[in-house]
Amino acid sequence: MLLRPPGVYRAEGDTEMVTDVMRRGGFALGRDVLDVGTGSGALAIAAARAGAGSVTAVDLSLRSVAATWLNSRLHAAAVTVRRGDLFAPVAGRRFGLVVANPPYVPAPTDRLPRHRKARCWDAGPDGRALLRRICAGVTDVLAPDGDLLLVHSAVCDTDLTLDALARVGLVPQVLAKATVPFGPVMRARAALLESRGLIGPGEREEELVVVGAHRD
Ligand SMILES: C[S@@+](CC[C@H](N)C(=O)[O-])C[C@H]1O[C@@H](n2cnc3c(N)ncnc32)[C@H](O)[C@@H]1O
Repeated sequence: MLLRPPGVYRAEGDTEMVTDVMRRGGFALGRDVLDVGTGSGALAIAAARAGAGSVTAVDLSLRSVAATWLNSRLHAAAVTVRRGDLFAPVAGRRFGLVVANPPYVPAPTDRLPRHRKARCWDAGPDGRALLRRICAGVTDVLAPDGDLLLVHSAVCDTDLTLDALARVGLVPQVLAKATVPFGPVMRARAALLESRGLIGPGEREEELVVVGAHRD
């Protein structure tokens, strides 16, 4: 029940998976939570409802920021909303939990869209443009003893995410997996993904993974 102006991501199965892991694991409870790439604010509102001490939501899109502001008020969830690029709007702050459902669909080019709905999913030729930056930068905003929860498709290589998070000193693990049929964007890109060897011939399902990473 979230308002979603045109161009704002509709909370989907990937959103639901992170929400589920966050709730079941009690990850948000009493913590300062950052939702990076908040879309309609679904994860931010879920974190507030799951007992977060505070919730900050960031998105590059003005419409997403407006939708999250409105949705959090309609749901009586205390969410601070900031517009900007990934961690830039919260530079210098530390969070006990960072949640992210970033764009992760492999795209025809490495040019990231700035003003279209495709900004919700296009993530460069290997789908890792945002994942790379999140993995490399998350320790700048993660408090000691904090956790990252990150969802993406295994098409963009789960092991690369685990390695990248281990490289910055976190302890990563896969917390949830689900195999789902391709949605419309992946279906439309199937031939491209096959030609790049990212999926096998005729493969039309993907595994979604929620990766958790703990900072000791
Ligand atoms: C897949 S959607 C996820 C939305 C929401 N978190 C959810 O799970 O329903 C990805 C979101 O990331 C945002 N985004 C893309 N690039 C970004 C960036 N560089 N910094 C912040 N947000 C970004 C998009 O505008 C979009 O709202």
